[in-house]
Amino acid sequence: MRHFLTLKDFTKEEILEIIDIGLTIKKNLKNKVYNKELENQTLAMIFEKSSTRTRVSFETGMTQLGGHALFLSNRDIHLGRGEPIKDTARVISSMCDMVMIRTFEHSMIEEFASYSKVPVINGLTDTYHPVQLLADYMTLLEHNSADNLVVAYVGDGNNMTHSWMMLCAKLGFELRIATPKGYEVDEKVLEESLEIAKQSGAVIKTMNDPKVAVKDATVVTTDTWTSMGQEDEKEERIKIFNGFMVDDAMMSLAKDEAKFLHCLPAYRGLEVSEELFEKHSKIVFNEAENRLHAQKGLMVWLDRQRDL
Ligand code: CP
Ligand code: NVA
Repeated sequence: MRHFLTLKDFTKEEILEIIDIGLTIKKNLKNKVYNKELENQTLAMIFEKSSTRTRVSFETGMTQLGGHALFLSNRDIHLGRGEPIKDTARVISSMCDMVMIRTFEHSMIEEFASYSKVPVINGLTDTYHPVQLLADYMTLLEHNSADNLVVAYVGDGNNMTHSWMMLCAKLGFELRIATPKGYEVDEKVLEESLEIAKQSGAVIKTMNDPKVAVKDATVVTTDTWTSMGQEDEKEERIKIFNGFMVDDAMMSLAKDEAKFLHCLPAYRGLEVSEELFEKHSKIVFNEAENRLHAQKGLMVWLDRQRDL
């Protein structure tokens, strides 16, 4: 049995296999050929933070695969009132077939997984957002943009950045990360990804000048400057991140056919301009839709592992 907590635990071949299953299920769905591999299974979804895409995609995905999804907010279950994580894990995993968790500390999900009898999926922690990267890479494959990849990430060194670093280290492309000083990526995640990168030939560069990062990039991506849990810092961050907005001027430095990705939600006038966002909205909303397909690939893959 495997958990999906970070891309660090997966090989390149496994990551591509998961995405490939998702693409096949997507293609079949468009032809009204339905994969019901998770019939009679229940996915428990524990949310300690808000969500639009993660909730809708996991719940819909589970329904389409013939199963059922349970939405459990921490306001409704005893976890939010202090029932230990290890007890919650043992109870839920004795009744459900898979668990998806969106929470703050990454250690929470690690502890949950260590007590869980069923696969646990990271639906976002403060450190990683790996399911989003499955959808992002699937989108680049569909747009024939996955070869000779040079990705520029502009903005906050956060969970999205860390997951880009792990994807890059595993798949072996070039990633340039531009953050303001003091908002760099986590040192430990950087060290780990650079170590993995030695095997794949990936190049990961960190810097503080977004223009240098974006120059001749084939993909430009960003994320909110204020992640969930940092709301009190919002005003200060808006001042510090001045100059890090991805707009037409910034994008013009990238390759002519460069793609723009955003995990959403997108804050116009902050990390991205309204004009730039709308120009690239087709690919961005395909990226959002691909959460559904990539995660179906993931759930099917995790279920198949259990039978091996
Ligand atoms: N990108 C993403 O995870 O969106 P939600 O926060 O809406 O789930
Ligand atoms: N970095 C953002 C991602 C939202 C999908 C956050 O953690 O709020």
